[in-house]
Amino acid sequence: MALQLGLVGYPIQHSLSPWIHHQFMKQEGIDGTYHLFETTEDQLENTFEQIRDRGVDGFNITVPYKQKIMKFLDELDEDAQRIGAVNTVVHQNGKWKGYNTDGQGYVHSVKRSYPNLFKEETKVLVLGAGGAARGIYRALVQESFEKVDVANRTTEKAKELLDVKKDHIQTDILTYQAAEQQLNAYDFIVQTTSVGMKPNTNDQVISLDHVKPGAVVSDIVYQPLMTELLLEAKARGANIHQGHAMLLYQAQLAFKIWTGKDVDAEKILEQLEMKLR
Ligand code: ATR
Repeated sequence: MALQLGLVGYPIQHSLSPWIHHQFMKQEGIDGTYHLFETTEDQLENTFEQIRDRGVDGFNITVPYKQKIMKFLDELDEDAQRIGAVNTVVHQNGKWKGYNTDGQGYVHSVKRSYPNLFKEETKVLVLGAGGAARGIYRALVQESFEKVDVANRTTEKAKELLDVKKDHIQTDILTYQAAEQQLNAYDFIVQTTSVGMKPNTNDQVISLDHVKPGAVVSDIVYQPLMTELLLEAKARGANIHQGHAMLLYQAQLAFKIWTGKDVDAEKILEQLEMKLR
């Protein structure tokens, strides 16, 4: 039986996930499809029924349904439960189980480029406190860092992130203004908001006047691949990490959940870059 995968979200017509998963299937010699289930919110339950009726093996969920899909599932992985959002669902032993591979995929993608960053002394700053930030913060606190601070426009919202924190991690909540002023205290800065995304490509969440040369500035926005934030980081002698790698590695982890196969995501990174240029 051919593998049946798919994506639930809205809008998703321009999603690169079908291309990525077809490349993975090709790599593994797996015969299968990755179908787009674009749906409005009032049709989400019907779409899920359709997915069940078709005998789909697994699917991804993207905006705006990462939370809304949860009530239809039978089981949740612990991280997905703590994060409060699901991006990957697998049909196994008659049950639908939800996972969240966004944060782990993100961390994987940074490790690939900057393995030396992953040590106790590295001071981390997360910008933003939305859904993406929750997954990323959850994955970061499982690494060897001791200090992972969070800055957000609404500091009250940033405090909610602390419920996915681990005991040994210290986290201060900052305003963007405070973050800008003490930016040279950080070695790794992670931009998790949608600020700077097309069509608002001139927007930048904080200025990098005080960035430490040699720090890593990472942006999860990948349209454009070079955001204003990354351009400024580069100009100020910082290292950069672009957002498309997260897209690819969350997919790699989802593919592993569905098939048990460890695909070589690296192989298609450059092609993905070309598609986004
Ligand atoms: P996502 O799931 O993509 O993370 P979200 O949950 O709506 O989306 O979260 C959006 C994040 O981007 C939040 O950190 C939000 O800041 P607030 O919590 O203060 O709202 C941030 N954000 C969105 N637009 C912004 C803007 N124009 N300036 C600064 N921060 C912004």
